[in-house]
Amino acid sequence: MTNDHLIGVVGGGLMGVGIATKFALAGHATLVVEADPGRAAGIPAVAADILSQLIDAGLIDAQARDAALARLRVTKDAGELAGAAMAIEAIPEVLTAKHALYAQLEAIMAPHAIIASNTSGFPPDALSEHMAAPGRFLVAHYWNPPHLIPLVEVVPGSATAPEVVERCVALLAGAKAEPVVLKAAIPGFIGNRLQFAVLREALHIVRSGAATPETVDAVMKACLGRRYSIMGPFESADLGGLQTLMGIGANLMPELAKDEDVLELMRAHVEKGELGASTGQGFYSWDDARLEDLKARRLRQLAGK
Ligand SMILES: NC(=O)c1ccc[n+]([C@@H]2O[C@H](COP(=O)([O-])OP(=O)(O)OC[C@H]3O[C@@H](n4cnc5c(N)ncnc54)[C@H](O)[C@@H]3O)[C@@H](O)[C@H]2O)c1
Repeated sequence: MTNDHLIGVVGGGLMGVGIATKFALAGHATLVVEADPGRAAGIPAVAADILSQLIDAGLIDAQARDAALARLRVTKDAGELAGAAMAIEAIPEVLTAKHALYAQLEAIMAPHAIIASNTSGFPPDALSEHMAAPGRFLVAHYWNPPHLIPLVEVVPGSATAPEVVERCVALLAGAKAEPVVLKAAIPGFIGNRLQFAVLREALHIVRSGAATPETVDAVMKACLGRRYSIMGPFESADLGGLQTLMGIGANLMPELAKDEDVLELMRAHVEKGELGASTGQGFYSWDDARLEDLKARRLRQLAGK
């Protein structure tokens, strides 16, 4: 018998701990399976820090934090997932490692238990290729940081059973996620395609010399970012009037970037070792104060304050 309340997260890294903390907050007994003992030892503190952020944002109280921490357990033994209703895999983006893990999980977990992957980009059929029962497998793609961004892109493979999609969506929604289900797997799913379409045009504008990165970012923050947190591109088009957008689009579409050669602008930074905030230099210069300010703004905004 599975315990519908037990949720497993395999891989307690950047994504896994946030995902697990959300399930624990929602009342699930939650097990994080982490292979690296050093990392495993730090997981309760990482979860406590996530929960403190949610308290600071006024989203939960101290009682909810303590209850969530009491429900979250860390182990290195995947065998403890035997009674779990669902395991979400969040190990590094290495296909062979994911294949090996699914073989292990299939041997451990009950036949109707769901195996989901938080992969950033592998198609579900490539992930489940060697599974004995791929009908129980699907992608559940969270966004970073998962405790603040509610979207989960649920991507069934060609063999995924419809009732597995339904059960997965119900479990995610019950844990305060906002799952969306794709009809078919496409590279980048939806969120990353939209993100990279915007990035391509942003790079194109800067490369053309028409504006700096600061100006492009200002346009996004003061206008489109606000709008898109309220309505999507199709709702926005309907409000703007489709005939008007057709007129603008007919002139503008041929002007927009179409190729990936705009990545040159980013490659030039990467080749100099300028990787962004992690190295202190990317399109901007980063110091601790700038980074902390941005993180504080993000927390306030995502908490709706
Ligand atoms: N980082 C992001 O912004 C982001 C966003 C969405 C999806 N993803 C995807 O989520 C997955 C995890 O990414 P991450 O950034 O959290 O990685 P990460 O490197 O921070 O964490 C992965 C963890 O998995 C552990 N691990 C590796 N093999 C294991 C095994 N067999 N059993 C148990 N633990 C194991 C590692 O020790 C590590 O702690 C990847 O597929 C990634 O593409 C990442």
